[in-house]
Amino acid sequence: MNKTIVIGSDHGGYHLKKACIKALTDWGYTVEDEGPDCLDSCDYPLYAAKVCDKLKADDSKLGVLICGTGLGMSMTANRMGIRAALCTNEFHARMARAHNNAPCLCLGERVTGQGLALSVLKVFLETDFEGDRHQRRIDLIDTVSQ
Ligand code: RB5
Repeated sequence: MNKTIVIGSDHGGYHLKKACIKALTDWGYTVEDEGPDCLDSCDYPLYAAKVCDKLKADDSKLGVLICGTGLGMSMTANRMGIRAALCTNEFHARMARAHNNAPCLCLGERVTGQGLALSVLKVFLETDFEGDRHQRRIDLIDTVSQ
């Protein structure tokens, strides 16, 4: 396994992003950090877009987007056509991969404590898509959105 994880945050998700990068590196993943590089106030859509562009260009990669609540990141990513799942527990994370085949996890640093967030991240990365009827439903998301 040498999967690449593309990660980004805003200032509200900066500390959790750093913790995720350390954990991902310890677990053997390759990490591409799309910023920001400091705690200065910044605009989450810009960083969501950087991560989503990379996921669109290479579907072997998974993404992690973190802001204060996870809401702004998930709204931006989903509007960009990336199925991004805002998860606050391991069940969310497992289903986001197994049923929704979400390539992007969203976390809220001001919502989910670091220990739980890292556990959510691990489950997200280690769960495979189940396919079958779930693929049909994912395809229908595009159909009904046109
Ligand atoms: C920044 O204050 C905050 O609005 C942002 O991190 C995020 O929670 C937006 O959805």
